[in-house]
Amino acid sequence: MPAVEQELPDHRLGSLASRRSLLAVWQALFFTPGTYEANPQHDAVWNRGAYLVEGLGHCMACHAERNRFGATRSGQNIAGDYVQGWYAPSFFSSREAGLQTWSQEKSAALLQHGKAGDAAVLGPMADIVYDSLQHLSDDDIHAMVSYLRSLPDTDIEPRRRPLRLSQARVDTMLDVGRQVYDRSCKDCHGRQGRGTEAAAALAGNRTVLMADPTNLVNTIRYGGYPPSTEGNPRPFGMPPFNDLSDAEIAAVATYIRQSWGNDAAPVATSHVRQDN
Ligand code: HEC
Ligand code: HEC
Repeated sequence: MPAVEQELPDHRLGSLASRRSLLAVWQALFFTPGTYEANPQHDAVWNRGAYLVEGLGHCMACHAERNRFGATRSGQNIAGDYVQGWYAPSFFSSREAGLQTWSQEKSAALLQHGKAGDAAVLGPMADIVYDSLQHLSDDDIHAMVSYLRSLPDTDIEPRRRPLRLSQARVDTMLDVGRQVYDRSCKDCHGRQGRGTEAAAALAGNRTVLMADPTNLVNTIRYGGYPPSTEGNPRPFGMPPFNDLSDAEIAAVATYIRQSWGNDAAPVATSHVRQDN
């Protein structure tokens, strides 16, 4: 093909972001080159896991909170952060993405197969399992899990505080939510939220219960498939419910967060709208 003249469009970065020299300042502040140094208090498997999670696995690129200059925080007890419209939960709480209370086997199955019991990976995490984690050796998966399970299990402050709603408002939402659930969700997730052959239990499910309802709202609105992997080659999919209004999504989310023993804060309609 003959070459053409093509004028490149100018970038449209803001005044600070467009100055390349400032990258050196950012790096001086937030980037410390180095090699992984084994922690002598732990065995070789744990150290391999820490190296993979903190280094090559880039897990913290999503799972660690960023400061306002876009640098990830490091250290203990860091919250998760938002990525591609999803919330990547913290590894430092078993109510979020922490594996502290899970067995080694269940944790390894989730990372390798994308599904373990009632937990499934969805959204950007499905890509991580599909493209990357399912191809790791069993030894490397076990090393990562050993490291993740050893992290402290703490209470993480939610990044967004739940809005306060009056009890009367919540009661109305529960009514609407029950109707939506019976019409649209019950056949797969079960009358009592205990799951069926086709879909996971929602009672006790941490995507449902997590303080930050971002992923719950996304799952209801967009549906989705866990990744197809060797251990789960034909995953069942959750259909999208984008024909539900924001108020109906908030209502059914609130209903499943407060039924069958679940006890999480209601989801306000404004929170659903914010996630559009
Ligand atoms: C592109 C961003 C991204 C990267 C990189 C990433 N994750 Fe995630 N992860 C997410 C999101 C978003 C969720 C929440 C959705 C879900 O539960 O599947 C999640 C959820 C999880 C969960 C909880 C799953 C559940 O069902 O409870 C674990 C465990 C996890 N990630 C481990 C890892 C590990 C280990 C790595 C590094 C190999 C990693 N993640 C890298 C975005 C990411
Ligand atoms: C056709 C069957 C089907 C219907 C109908 C359905 N779901 Fe699902 N749902 C699934 C499947 C399959 C998954 C993926 C996880 C799995 O493999 O069990 C899922 C996942 C979820 C998750 C995430 C669970 C997790 O562990 O990450 C939530 C929350 C959820 N559904 C809520 C709902 C709600 C609320 C409705 C009704 C508005 C609904 N679902 C309707 C099949 C269904």
